[in-house]
Amino acid sequence: MSEGTSPATPPAPQPIRLEDYTPPAWLVESVHLDVALAPSRTRVRATMRVLPNPDAAAGTPLTLDGERMTLLLVSVDGAKLDAGAYDLTDSSLVLPHLTEGTHEIVIETECDPQANTSLTGLYQSNGVYCTQCEAEGFRRITYFPDRPDVLAVYTVRLEGDAAACPVLLANGNCVESGTLEGGRHFAVWHDPHPKPSYLFAMVAGDLAHVSDSFTTRSGREVALGIYVEHGKEDRTAYAMDALKRSMKWDEDAFGREYDLDVFNIVAVSDFNMGAMENKGLNVFNDKYILVRPDTATDVDFANVEAIIAHEYFHNWSGNRVTCRDWFQLCLKEGLTVFRDQEFTSDMRSRPVKRIADVKTLRAHQFPEDAGPLAHPVRPTSYIEINNFYTATVYEKGAEVVRMLKAIVGEDAFCAGMDIYFSRNDGRAATVEDFLDAMAEASGRDLSQFKRWYDQAGTPDLVVSGRYSPLDETYELTVAQSTAPTPGQSQKAPLHIPLTMGLIGTDGEDLGLYLAGETSEDGATERTLELTQHEQVFTFEKVPSPPVLSLLRGFSAPVKLTTNGGEKDWLFRMAHDSDPCARWEAGQTYARELLVAVTRAIAAGEKPRRGTRYADALRNVLTDDSLEPAFAAMMLDLPGEAELAQHIGQDVDADAVHAARSHLHKAVADQLGDLLLDRYAQLQSNAAYSPDADQAGRRALKNACLRVYAGLGNENAARLAATQFASANNMTDTEAALATLTHMARDERQAAFDSFYERASGDPLLLDKWFSLQAMSSREDTLARAMELAKHKDFSLTRPNTVRALVGVFAGANPVRFHAADGSGYRFLTAFVRELDPINPQVAARLLGTLKTWRVYDAPRRDAARQAVSDLLSAGKLSEDTYEIATRMIA
Ligand code: PHE
Ligand code: ZN
Repeated sequence: MSEGTSPATPPAPQPIRLEDYTPPAWLVESVHLDVALAPSRTRVRATMRVLPNPDAAAGTPLTLDGERMTLLLVSVDGAKLDAGAYDLTDSSLVLPHLTEGTHEIVIETECDPQANTSLTGLYQSNGVYCTQCEAEGFRRITYFPDRPDVLAVYTVRLEGDAAACPVLLANGNCVESGTLEGGRHFAVWHDPHPKPSYLFAMVAGDLAHVSDSFTTRSGREVALGIYVEHGKEDRTAYAMDALKRSMKWDEDAFGREYDLDVFNIVAVSDFNMGAMENKGLNVFNDKYILVRPDTATDVDFANVEAIIAHEYFHNWSGNRVTCRDWFQLCLKEGLTVFRDQEFTSDMRSRPVKRIADVKTLRAHQFPEDAGPLAHPVRPTSYIEINNFYTATVYEKGAEVVRMLKAIVGEDAFCAGMDIYFSRNDGRAATVEDFLDAMAEASGRDLSQFKRWYDQAGTPDLVVSGRYSPLDETYELTVAQSTAPTPGQSQKAPLHIPLTMGLIGTDGEDLGLYLAGETSEDGATERTLELTQHEQVFTFEKVPSPPVLSLLRGFSAPVKLTTNGGEKDWLFRMAHDSDPCARWEAGQTYARELLVAVTRAIAAGEKPRRGTRYADALRNVLTDDSLEPAFAAMMLDLPGEAELAQHIGQDVDADAVHAARSHLHKAVADQLGDLLLDRYAQLQSNAAYSPDADQAGRRALKNACLRVYAGLGNENAARLAATQFASANNMTDTEAALATLTHMARDERQAAFDSFYERASGDPLLLDKWFSLQAMSSREDTLARAMELAKHKDFSLTRPNTVRALVGVFAGANPVRFHAADGSGYRFLTAFVRELDPINPQVAARLLGTLKTWRVYDAPRRDAARQAVSDLLSAGKLSEDTYEIATRMIA
């Protein structure tokens, strides 16, 4: 730029595209890292053997990724290069003369872990050194081809102050350690399994640990360790137990055995995500390790179990078989979520787990798929890969694996998994490799099924059934369509497994005889395969008009509309043999009621009281044959955000809130005494155990309290306050506060004050204190949230706290976040602007909570769009936040 010209706006970040994939020009055989730890000047000396990739174009100069480091030295085969012999930019190091042959490269760099608030690369959390390399953090530790298809064998020598860092950990096995002069010491770790750089990890600090061991099915003894801050050891027992159960389960269910002598887990308090599957050294957000009955709820315990399993299962689905490029992220994440869901189903109640997963999918993935951030399970372009760790990649990715299993059947699925693991072991694979293994094992053509990976949006299924008494047939017409999503206006039909049954008037399932099939099968449940825009299925030998039960086990992630109505829903709430479909019948009924109530309130008419719906819930409450956890889910009304999605356009968040409060109160009115009776009956003096049965009874008890509190009266407040005062576990404490938080009563303040006293000094409890206030539907919640953002216990550098306050306000408090005057939106974007320079990943993710803005009415839409464009024009944003903001209002 010449003198006098006005500064040009920086070029917009350029997207990376799947279609541009080319294999790496250079491979790395081995890496030896020598790390001298110091809080603000950590030195890294990387020695690596590099060679041209025989499968790539020859003659390409060696190019390494690297950012936010000081380069101190580069040498090739023992000869130091001068600055003229390499090209250094903000993001790369190129050796233009190195185009062929095998070489030893040495690179010395320095970085500043103490100043690193982005929590990627090497950073410190409460004084503990810790790394996060997925997706592209290794390039902040040294210059390297930082891409998942470059697999190398790593040896790491860590050296640090013996007093500040008595613990020195890295991937693999510890092969040497010792003391040094000046109060320093060292440890050398070697990981024999070639791995991509994103699975590298090291940790150093003053940590306590608990140990245990696991013997694999072939008799190998594995030393297990969980490292935590001192004083937290007594909160690790459940995680350790979950780890051992996970190791056993993967052997039994998938034939996968652990492959190192050591498996370590470290819990840190500052972490961008839930946890990370680094080879042999998982790093966890401590929220997903540290649980004790008085500090953690049943849901926290269940999350620990599931996330421990998830990260452990990555050892095969992710680490042994890794991803060729980041577009294939679902290959490891969707599959591993599927595997952890199956694990939880085996450990707990399968139907309850399935319903919980459907709720999550509907709360997070469906809105994503319906809004401006929609993208396929395998995206085709991105600016910042960190923005694609989404509900679509994870949860819909898991649904795709589940559907595949439903289509090819259990046996072929297992055979396909074996082929996939053995054929791709040690490789960086693609979605095609996975589908090829399944196609081979099943003999099925999966080319149409593959569209699930490429096509965004939630399909709509419209189904109508017609009974014909003359020939005793039942004809099912099924139409599928998918609405356009950003960048995809045309949608092709998908291969959808639709599991269904027909229920007779006596409530028993009927035998199913599909016309045109020769086998006289007569099974009471089957999976129809949809492949066309519209299909007709005719069932024969149907003696009387049946009730249609569709999407059993939620066999596909679709939105379903049928020609059934109130009568069918009531019948299926009482009789459907499939728990998921039974629960869904209640949800469908409640959604329709709530829409009707919303309309009535808007039109100034008297809204319905849901008498028959309340009667159906009465039956649920008195039916002792139901699992309590399931009954608790039946009692849950669909949330306001879900209703907004269901209505789909011009939503008035206040009207939806008013409608839901109305129905909630009406149900509480009608069930009043029964709720109190059940609440009393479900009290227990048994010692707390986090097991699924006890947790299920607590869930039902607390659901009774929650529904009863819909009355909002003195009695409800007294009940919750009493529970708060007498609870001997965090589940009951939190449930009491979650009830009180919406109330305008003195009991509320007293309980929150006393909880704060108890929480002081314990970040995980303080986070509960923040989030329980942020979720309040009270009118003063935004003002309170603004106050809390200035509270001494709040900090922008702690992702958990940021999520507890701002994440919960924006993501779990629709009526206050979607305030008609836009104040909620402006609070969010102002906060994002402040956070962005500190932690772009978390800032971008927070901004993502705005993704549903288009379903709201004009004043809200205008305010949301304005808030985001103001953010975009207020100054330079990180690529993370820039990408989300631009897609949000595109
Ligand atoms: N790969 C982690 C998982 O198990 C998630 C993660 C992604 C963690 C990026 C940190 C950074 O799902
Ligand atoms: Zn994962």
